[in-house]
Amino acid sequence: MFEAVLGVSALVTPAILIAWWLAGYLAGRLVFWGRLRLGVGVLLAVLGLAALLTAAELFLVARLWSYGWLFVKDRMILGTPPLLLPAAAALFLSVPRLWRLARGAVVEAKVPVDAAGRSEASHPLLVVPVQATAVGAALFFYVTWFPPGLPSPGMALTLWGLFSISTAALWVRQRRRLRIMSGPEPPLTPGPGFRLLRTGAFALAICAGFVALFAYSMQASVLPDRFSMMTHENVDYGGGPQTGHGHMGHADHEHGSSTSVTDLTGPREGVPDRRFTLTAREARIRLGSGKTIEAWTFDGKAPGPELRVRQGELVEVTLLNEDIDDGVTLHWHGIDVPNAEDGVAGLTQDAVRPGERHTYRFRAEQAGTYWYHSHQVSSEQVGKGLFGAFIVEPREPEKDEREVTVLAHSWESGNGRTAAMGASDTLERKAITPGTPVRLRLINTDSYPVTFSLTGAPFEVAAIDGTDLNAPTELTDTRLELAAGGRYDVTFTMPATPVRLGVPEGVGLGGDDHDLGLLLSSDGKGDVPALENGPGFDPASYGEPEPTPFDASSDFDQEFEVVLDNRPGFYDGNFYMLWTINGEVFPNTPAQMVREGDLVKTTFVNRSFMDHPMHLHGHHVLVLSRNGERVSGSPWWSDTLNVAPGESYEVAFRADNPGIWMDHCHNLDHAAEGMTMHLGYEGVTTPFEAGSETGNRPE
Ligand code: C2O
Ligand code: CU
Repeated sequence: MFEAVLGVSALVTPAILIAWWLAGYLAGRLVFWGRLRLGVGVLLAVLGLAALLTAAELFLVARLWSYGWLFVKDRMILGTPPLLLPAAAALFLSVPRLWRLARGAVVEAKVPVDAAGRSEASHPLLVVPVQATAVGAALFFYVTWFPPGLPSPGMALTLWGLFSISTAALWVRQRRRLRIMSGPEPPLTPGPGFRLLRTGAFALAICAGFVALFAYSMQASVLPDRFSMMTHENVDYGGGPQTGHGHMGHADHEHGSSTSVTDLTGPREGVPDRRFTLTAREARIRLGSGKTIEAWTFDGKAPGPELRVRQGELVEVTLLNEDIDDGVTLHWHGIDVPNAEDGVAGLTQDAVRPGERHTYRFRAEQAGTYWYHSHQVSSEQVGKGLFGAFIVEPREPEKDEREVTVLAHSWESGNGRTAAMGASDTLERKAITPGTPVRLRLINTDSYPVTFSLTGAPFEVAAIDGTDLNAPTELTDTRLELAAGGRYDVTFTMPATPVRLGVPEGVGLGGDDHDLGLLLSSDGKGDVPALENGPGFDPASYGEPEPTPFDASSDFDQEFEVVLDNRPGFYDGNFYMLWTINGEVFPNTPAQMVREGDLVKTTFVNRSFMDHPMHLHGHHVLVLSRNGERVSGSPWWSDTLNVAPGESYEVAFRADNPGIWMDHCHNLDHAAEGMTMHLGYEGVTTPFEAGSETGNRPE
């Protein structure tokens, strides 16, 4: 529904623009019409159409407003006044004059209309409101199609200023015309040839302007050869009570000290409890169906090996790159590691080139389901297989629990995408003894939400994004929509009859007839139960509340608003329908600045046509509310929060992990097109740079 309203409202705006421009043009030329009555009639009809379209648009904007103020704030503040004020003037000033003109003595006049008629027909109060509305409609169109997300005072001044100056200019011009027109002699009108020439020149000038703008934006969007991810044009100090201290990366920070991300490492000393080596290399892998994929692998496997550690253990992972030309890194998705171990090329390290190595060390403090993946050219590298599961077992593991890790992924296989769970793109059968406690660790490594369906046993969602839920209740035939990058732990007791995990929905994944998924039964055989089309799982009202370190009524030190939009534009020299954050793509997206210890609240609003799974590195956020409604169930901690079109979320986190952190959409194609931003701690700097010359492409 939201998308329909959004789409129609966007499509109505050019129609409004055309209608008001036509009306403005006709109003300006009314006096030249051979038959004034006909001219007035046509103008009134066009005005009626323009008014109708405007009213329809207002209705649609009101509908969007019902999703929340942030859905329309920029349009309401920047675009609506320049459209509605003159439109009202047109209604109350121009239309009555047109009426009078139509019913007056001059109705039957032929060319030349007499002086009284001419002066009435060219009166500024008749003409200017209509023409000013045309200008307002252009601004409204601009704000709708190139939404700034959050209206800034500067932008308001610019747009309103533009509107006021144009209106004043139109007024002055019309006054002059009125003077000329009210003379006793009808003025000489320029011939049609001249007018055609004039219109042509005007159109040419506009086109040239657009071409120049186009070329300029294309050029301006080219990313520099090297740039530091901490020098942002657009630093956001939030709306909290304490704002505007120092600049990210400035050594002359108020305490006069600065920390480099390279110093924010995990424990450098100590014998690791677990040691892993992962070697990145190209390899051909075979899916369950026999299909082969040219993959990029860790240790020849895609997905890479599952890394399992115990909570509290010191983990050391050495990454070797054998032959991945672009270089690779390892990012521990969802694990709040120290900044230097976060594995973001160009921000916390350089990409590891072929023949090179890099060692990561951190203590696995959080039990739960996580995953690792390369954070260099990640849209391509994760797609091709440079990822794997990372499981942190609790200090006291559940006895006899049978665990199955499911990595939903779609593989590029020559003829489109092949949906799979791990490397198995067919139904996988497993034998599990009835009565066994089962834990499915569902991980979505794809770029789109994936809906899972579990049939054959009542189950619980035990954890979201690695964090256990409080008092989960039993669910039956409930569909689980999992954010790209997100994880659900699902637990149940194995019944005597078969249980099926399927994927009814998901871009690239899914389809009931599709023999994809898991079949669990006592002997690994048995019939495949059909997937039930049950209700959707709602994390906002599942389980029981319990105390949290902070909540919606806490005092926040910083508050940020993040508006996700679509607009046409360029990124790195290419034209896209861009996915923007507060109207911009990286590196012009806001860098949110916090100080260590801050309690931070962020509001996400999605006004675009696709889901955006927002992933903040290094922190877990507590979801406070969705669409204005407080979370009523178990505390819901997330590291990858899917914000669907029309949705708004308020989340909060404690800034307790200093560094510079990526905060981006985990639809990795969106991230690659600039849908990324950073959370920066004041006083933290990075020596690493991104850009083509550095070879670092964090995306
Ligand atoms: Cu899973 Cu910044 O990524
Ligand atoms: Cu996105």
